[in-house]
Amino acid sequence: MTKDLTSINDLSRDEILGLLDRARDLKQQLKTRPRVLLADGAMAALVFEKPSLRTRVTFETAIRQLGGSAVYLGPTDIGLGQRETVPDVARNLSRWVNCIIARVFEQDKITTLAENATVPVINALSDDEHPCQILADLQTVLEHRGSLEGARIAWVGDGNNVCNSLTLACGMLGVNLRVATPKGFEPARRFTDQAREYASSTNASIETSYDPAAAVKDAEFIYTDTWTSMGQEDEAEQRRKMFARFQVNSDLVAKAGKEVKVMHCLPAHRGEEITDEVLDGPGSVVLDQAENRLHAQRALLAVLLAK
Ligand code: CP
Ligand code: NVA
Repeated sequence: MTKDLTSINDLSRDEILGLLDRARDLKQQLKTRPRVLLADGAMAALVFEKPSLRTRVTFETAIRQLGGSAVYLGPTDIGLGQRETVPDVARNLSRWVNCIIARVFEQDKITTLAENATVPVINALSDDEHPCQILADLQTVLEHRGSLEGARIAWVGDGNNVCNSLTLACGMLGVNLRVATPKGFEPARRFTDQAREYASSTNASIETSYDPAAAVKDAEFIYTDTWTSMGQEDEAEQRRKMFARFQVNSDLVAKAGKEVKVMHCLPAHRGEEITDEVLDGPGSVVLDQAENRLHAQRALLAVLLAK
């Protein structure tokens, strides 16, 4: 495996499947053996430019359960690229810690950290991607469906960072994906093009449209996320209007398969992209996704820190 996880593109199909196997085993083991010292004494730096509940808690918990520990550096601590250049931060941290877990705005900050750090750099969400989320989501789909190949997922809402990583992973793993967004909010072409290139050898179909009802037809999973990602708060009001037709509510869910599961990476904006009855309803797997962040990231840390 590569030194870093900056993007889903850093992983091969086999590496993703290997991580998912490992995550499943670690999840099973956790009941009887909460501490497995796969990263004994390792120190991780969490460099976060944006807020977080799930990513921070699951990474801190994961590294501790593996025998290591973490230092959290929040938005006002470092001034990444302001108080000090990104390469200088990477070089300094590499002398003290064994891993850098970074949540940033520009993807370029993740790649610059990775290029200049001698230790692994993990993308804990950037404006472009959220690969750790997608590892947990794939684990969740596997648990509920038994296999990934041939699965049918509909993404409804903004073609954002989570959607970009999902699109790449679906192409790589043979998962059929239909993305429905308002015009102008499609995932960037470089992600759909790359996903379709992967899909040419996995037979996945990667489709984009502006029609949520058509996207969810026959879907096994409907996935949505906030209409306004972190950093876009100024656009929130305008987005609420533009995305209104893309709410995941009971009417939309009724257009999908009977057993459809509903996914959301959280945090949810109840009454906006998703209604309470769907988020809290019987088809919702959002807390499985949240739980699996821990297991998928334990697997990831175990592999990256084993070097
Ligand atoms: N899904 C997710 O990454 O949640 P946080 O922003 O709370 O970390
Ligand atoms: N797309 C959201 C995901 C949050 C986990 C954001 O970037 O804010």
